[in-house]
Amino acid sequence: MIITLAEVADVMTDKSEITNRHCSRADLENHWMPFTDNKSFKREPRLIVRGKGIHVWNNRGERLVDGSSGLFSVPCGHCRHEIAAAVHEQLQVLDYTSPFLRGHPKSFELARRLAAITPEPLNHIFYGNSGSEAVDTAMKIVMAYNFARRQSQKNIFVSRERAYHGVNIGGTSLAGIVKNREAFTSVLPGVAYMRSTATPDRKFIKGQPGDGGEDLADDLLRVIKTYGESRIAACFIEPIAGSTGVLVPPEGYLERLREICDQYDIVLVFDEVITGFGRTGSAFAAQEFGVTPDIITMAKAMTNAAQPMSGVAVHDRIYDTVVGAAEENMIEFFHGYTYSGHPAACAASLATLDIYEKENLFQRAKDLSGYFLDSVFALQEHPLITDIRGYGMLAAIELLVEERPGMRGHDFQKRLFDAGVHVKTTGDAALIAPPFIIEKSEIDDMCGIIREVLDSYR
Ligand SMILES: Cc1ncc(COP(=O)(O)O)c(C=O)c1O
Repeated sequence: MIITLAEVADVMTDKSEITNRHCSRADLENHWMPFTDNKSFKREPRLIVRGKGIHVWNNRGERLVDGSSGLFSVPCGHCRHEIAAAVHEQLQVLDYTSPFLRGHPKSFELARRLAAITPEPLNHIFYGNSGSEAVDTAMKIVMAYNFARRQSQKNIFVSRERAYHGVNIGGTSLAGIVKNREAFTSVLPGVAYMRSTATPDRKFIKGQPGDGGEDLADDLLRVIKTYGESRIAACFIEPIAGSTGVLVPPEGYLERLREICDQYDIVLVFDEVITGFGRTGSAFAAQEFGVTPDIITMAKAMTNAAQPMSGVAVHDRIYDTVVGAAEENMIEFFHGYTYSGHPAACAASLATLDIYEKENLFQRAKDLSGYFLDSVFALQEHPLITDIRGYGMLAAIELLVEERPGMRGHDFQKRLFDAGVHVKTTGDAALIAPPFIIEKSEIDDMCGIIREVLDSYR
């Protein structure tokens, strides 16, 4: 059933019903919520009960701007009826089939469409259900590639300080954010870390920092020297480090990493779970920055978040090596998920790609970026703000640390929620990434609310 805005408004007037339906303490207890302070959330729940366009509604019936597109995942806006209809229709035709040794037409159609928007020659798509699965899948593809070409001594993965690559064991092993790994003491050995591209000496840089990129990338040479020239399997990076607070790569950085990876036969992986599907103004950051990796991971905006889904786009050379190494009639890659390429997720993703195309949303993101970044950077004189960074339709506002790191950020997102904006925070950084369909006047409103909330600390 498609819910119209008028119906949303109708339901919203019956606040008590919503509160009773969504907010009983007993109802909340059993769900152990992810990345959440469960104790305080359940005392003071902040539930979202509906979404439409750039807005969501909370359980008190109040409307909020979705300033982070959920988790960077709803660029087309919420509750797109085209996507809902495609999923509905698919579930009535074919709800499920085993993805092992069986297939259904939509997964192939989607892979063709995705290969058309990923850079050449990344033409083979492996499906998962989350960004974390995409990252772990990419690690296993690298291992299988090296096994197939008798290079299994290449078993060191390189990541970076402040990296976020999801929460499965592979991604946790690559993690460079302390809190995301300190309790998890049995992760993979054989991961080395480069420096992050944070530039604490230079603040309030809009877009790419202008220099220093090549030096930072040369950190990969340090790792190569430490382990040996033939030992490095892959280098995983987020082209823009998102979850840690939007660290935009300095000019020359990605290009230099590519050069080093070519020189030492290292697989370069761009984790584009946040940057994929237009967030930078191009389909992928790889195209935006003009550097082609060997593997791209994607998720989130792949279905406009209407269905869980992720993908790994793989270079022809890697696919051909793994597939070519197996004997005829033998499975080539012993990996996959029950829901790899689920029919409903494929239908959602195809409908999402249609919207991106029809509404020219990647170009819209590019065109709107200047206005968006100017509006966010206009907050920079505020005494509570210590830095702002941004690129495309993605920005981070770094707040002055209160007593303990992270305390102010956490409080800030609560105050913003109560004032009418949903924003994801990480530590003391607020990550602003609205849907691409947002209008300029709505950006003004959103930034106005952010300013008011900043002022509330005075
Ligand atoms: C770069 C990156 N990789 C992987 C992930 C994990 O994705 P998921 O939460 O869908 O597992 C995220 C999530 O934010 C991400 O930003």
